[in-house]
Amino acid sequence: MALRNVLTDGNPALRRVCRPYTEFGPRLHELLDDMRETLEAENGVGLAAPQVGIIRRACIVLETNVEEGQEEYIIELVNPEIISSEGEQEGGEGCLSFPGEYGIVKRPEKVTVRAQDRNGKPFEVSGTGLTARAFCHEIDHLNGILFVDKAERMLTPEELGMGEDDEGDEDE
Ligand code: NI
Repeated sequence: MALRNVLTDGNPALRRVCRPYTEFGPRLHELLDDMRETLEAENGVGLAAPQVGIIRRACIVLETNVEEGQEEYIIELVNPEIISSEGEQEGGEGCLSFPGEYGIVKRPEKVTVRAQDRNGKPFEVSGTGLTARAFCHEIDHLNGILFVDKAERMLTPEELGMGEDDEGDEDE
C-alpha cells in the first residue's frame, strides 16, 4: 500500500464526471487499499477516487456511528448511487481537498446507497448523521460536485476557532 497525494481546490480532476468501473481487478483493489491508508493518514471520514487523480466511480466512507467499544470501519463503494434519502440535517462540512475550509451544508439525515464491493458484488448500505453526510459528499465528488457548490455559507475563522469542540467539522 502507498499513500496517495490528495489534490486540492483548483485541480481540474476534481471537476470531472467519473466513469464507472466495469472491471474489479488488482488496479481497483490497489487504489482502494491506498485510499484507505491515505484517509487514515489524513484523519478524514471520506475520500473519493478523483481526489487522488483517478477519474473513476469509487469512494470510501468511515462509518463512525458504531456501538461503544466497537471499532469504526471503512465502507468501500464502487459505482455507488443514492437510492433513497429521508430527513434533513444542517451542519459544518469540510473536505480533504479544501484544507482548513468549512461550510454549512444541508444534507439528508439518512441515506441508503446501492453500490458494488471491490469484487463487483452489489450491496446496499444505509447511514445516518455524519455517515449520511459523507455518502452524499463522496458521491457528489464522483460527479465533479464539491461541497463549496452546496454550502449555504462558509464558516469564518472566528467560527472555526469557536467550533473546535464540535463534532461536525470533519474532512471528507
Ligand atoms: Ni471531499
